[in-house]
Amino acid sequence: MRADIEAAVADVIGPVPRRLFGSFVEHLGRAVYTGIHEPGHSTSDGRGFRGDVLELVRELGPSVVRYPGGNFVSAYRWEDGVGQRPVRLDPAWHSVEPNRFGLHEFAEWAEAAGVEVMYAVNLGTRGIQEAADVLEYCNHPGGTELSERRRANGADRPFGFRLWCLGNEMDGPWQAGHKTADEYGRLAAETARVLRMIDPGVELVVAGSSNAEMPTFGSWERTVLRHTAALADHISLHAYYQELDGDTGSYLASAAALDAYIRDCAAIIDETVAELGLDRRIGISVDEWNVWDQRRWNETDQPRLVAGGWREHPRLLEDTYTVTDAVVVGSLLNSLLRNVDRVTMANQAQLVNAIAPIRTEPGGPAWRQATFHPFRLAAALARGVSLRLAVTGGRVRTAQHGEVDVVDAAATLDESGQCAVFLTNRDPASPTEIRLRLRGGRFAVHHAETLTVPEGGTRHTVNTAESEPVRPVALPGVAATADARGTVITASLPPLSW
Ligand code: AHR
Repeated sequence: MRADIEAAVADVIGPVPRRLFGSFVEHLGRAVYTGIHEPGHSTSDGRGFRGDVLELVRELGPSVVRYPGGNFVSAYRWEDGVGQRPVRLDPAWHSVEPNRFGLHEFAEWAEAAGVEVMYAVNLGTRGIQEAADVLEYCNHPGGTELSERRRANGADRPFGFRLWCLGNEMDGPWQAGHKTADEYGRLAAETARVLRMIDPGVELVVAGSSNAEMPTFGSWERTVLRHTAALADHISLHAYYQELDGDTGSYLASAAALDAYIRDCAAIIDETVAELGLDRRIGISVDEWNVWDQRRWNETDQPRLVAGGWREHPRLLEDTYTVTDAVVVGSLLNSLLRNVDRVTMANQAQLVNAIAPIRTEPGGPAWRQATFHPFRLAAALARGVSLRLAVTGGRVRTAQHGEVDVVDAAATLDESGQCAVFLTNRDPASPTEIRLRLRGGRFAVHHAETLTVPEGGTRHTVNTAESEPVRPVALPGVAATADARGTVITASLPPLSW
């Protein structure tokens, strides 16, 4: 197939927020224990932080990491992670939580990893007071019982966390303390008011829908925002995609569903803000997104089945990702880039072991899953502003998303004049020839890479502890020619590639 892509360097969607490349560490399976934290591991430091994992995290390049949940947070007592460390049941993941790792450890780990912390409070089984307490503990300089407790626990200076999530997926019946939209909206608003009284500098994220298929999607956002729009800075959106019934075409077009979901959410924000007569911008925080084989989750990965009783850090959600998954992750990143006028941050869920780009073995190696690469490249290269692109030409028909462009595209332009173009070829069988016209700028090709089925592999090829065949390789034959109107770039995109 063929596709033509048109862009003008002056046609800007918006600045690319660094927070678009966020990630997530939840107390879930082996994300924390034997993931980022494993005292005694040959690469661990005195604090038990795995050095091999830290190195991979720095290479991956997330800007902000959400913590401590997820479903976990909705029954979590933050005090268990500071000072005394009681062993507790974690109902969300049917696990025993030893609380060896908590607030101070995460703050130190985040500093070592060079990432901002996005801290989630429990609005499931707890409420306003506990949220106020953890904020005071973290951000108040000193002289109060809670801030002095932090200092006594070794953090003389406040953590100064700025980003706070008011609960997690409160629309989901699986959530501890699940609420109706009105119940949650009221609680989130009252919590927001008190948090702002304690620290006016906090940025607050209210919980939106768990996925676009929730029967309450839309009405949930509208009701929650009617309560919170004057107080919230962002509303969350969670989105996971998977291949169903061998329908690769629809899976490869998942970004079309994410585009639509973001646009629908944006429309509801606009409608509600207008209805309330407010002059505020509320961003969309896509603070959980990824590919995740939820069939496996439903059938074999349930914590009760896996743990077979209550155990510490059982192996949960350890999806092994294929090159197909990596291509989909690449195009989901394209979707985030196309929507920077509304999406203020995004967190790939998650970082290590649980549906993650990094995997580890206890006492053993750490390695890059196939999905590591699109995230690493986009986080490194997508800088400056996102450009509006018009794609014409090849179309593919999908069962779930109707007809979509065969090429899924995004591009950014930074202050130094470097342009990064991200293209997915959704055709699983054939190359697509592209012709990209960039109006208003003269560019040469600096380098071109592709992530595609490795030589001798299939679309199901994966990386393992022993070998990492799925990685970007040079894309030959990319040519640029300049004329009076700008630059024309031609390339042949391999089948199933990002
Ligand atoms: O990321 C895994 C889980 O998915 C999170 O704990 C929850 O918020 C979502 O349902």
